[in-house]
Amino acid sequence: MDATALERQHRRISRLKAQGVFRSTILVHQECKSVLDDLRPFLLDPNKGKQLVMFTEAMQSAAKPINVAQVRQLSPLRYPGGKTWLVPEIRNWLVLAKHRPSMLVEPFAGGAMVGLSVAGEDLADHVFLSELDGDVAALWAIIFQGTDEDVSWLCRHILEFDVTLTNVKHIIGSAPDTLRALAFRTIVKNRMQRGGIMAEGAGLTKVGENGKGLLSRWYPETLVKRIEALRFLRHQITFEHKDAFEVIRLYIKDPNAYFFIDPPYTAGGKRAGSRLYTHSQIDHEALFALMAKAKGSVMMTYDDAPEVRRLAKQYGFRVVEIPMKNTHHTIIRELLLMKP
Ligand SMILES: C[S@@+](CC[C@H](N)C(=O)[O-])C[C@H]1O[C@@H](n2cnc3c(N)ncnc32)[C@H](O)[C@@H]1O
Repeated sequence: MDATALERQHRRISRLKAQGVFRSTILVHQECKSVLDDLRPFLLDPNKGKQLVMFTEAMQSAAKPINVAQVRQLSPLRYPGGKTWLVPEIRNWLVLAKHRPSMLVEPFAGGAMVGLSVAGEDLADHVFLSELDGDVAALWAIIFQGTDEDVSWLCRHILEFDVTLTNVKHIIGSAPDTLRALAFRTIVKNRMQRGGIMAEGAGLTKVGENGKGLLSRWYPETLVKRIEALRFLRHQITFEHKDAFEVIRLYIKDPNAYFFIDPPYTAGGKRAGSRLYTHSQIDHEALFALMAKAKGSVMMTYDDAPEVRRLAKQYGFRVVEIPMKNTHHTIIRELLLMKP
């Protein structure tokens, strides 16, 4: 290329840069080459950004079902309806967002798999968690607002706990009078009750000979490592023992607040949620109506029920189907409801 042509090219590149267009190198399989050529004009058009994001989301969702066992864990709770498997989707949602979220709000926190991963991977400036269940709330309150002494007390009790049927029953049946003792009981209940179910009436996990089944659920060092990791993240995470609706209203007008909404699945008369959680009664219609007013981005998860699809349509949520392999290795379909 001669000097004039080179200069002309430089001028063209600077002009494009000023318009927000940059040169980028990508690797393309020959099978996809023609698609890339078709995509070229759209990649130059800023108005097509949103559609391209939706297109890639759809491609990702149609991919293989997510396997629960393959995702890294930060939560010390094994939680019924836990969303560890959704973390890759959350990553895409936040990384592809136009602006870095100033706040990720997870108001139905439970085991808080999403909020904790977002803080751990620094995908938002801050994470706000809330939960109504007093047992679960005690654990989060100690980890995120407790003193160092509270946290070392909790970790010591976990490490020194002698797992026998008698001791487990004693702790589960106790009525702690301090927050840290309640947090410890939460950990014991959560590890030892079937499926991690915290609601009244959940039986113990299969006990086996000499209570050996209980031991198989108790990984004290791992639990303590997770608690210590979360403690390290505590300046990025706020926890409040509050009703989700109240917390959502705090951020509803903030365009940079992102909401991850995972309520108990009780819409349309579904009963799964009512067995699993102490607090399971939600006014789902009111929740949809409230989330439709959010200025920031919203992701809600529900199981696939006609009532949920009806509400999504009525309140203008985009519906994405996610196939997932549950712990019984069956593929089930959950819905992600997105806005915008
Ligand atoms: C589906 S679970 C959330 C699971 C969570 N996403 C996880 O990954 O572990 C729903 C949670 O909402 C809580 N909950 C129910 N009603 C609530 C309310 N009004 N405000 C806050 N939390 C509530 C339940 O106690 C339960 O822990």
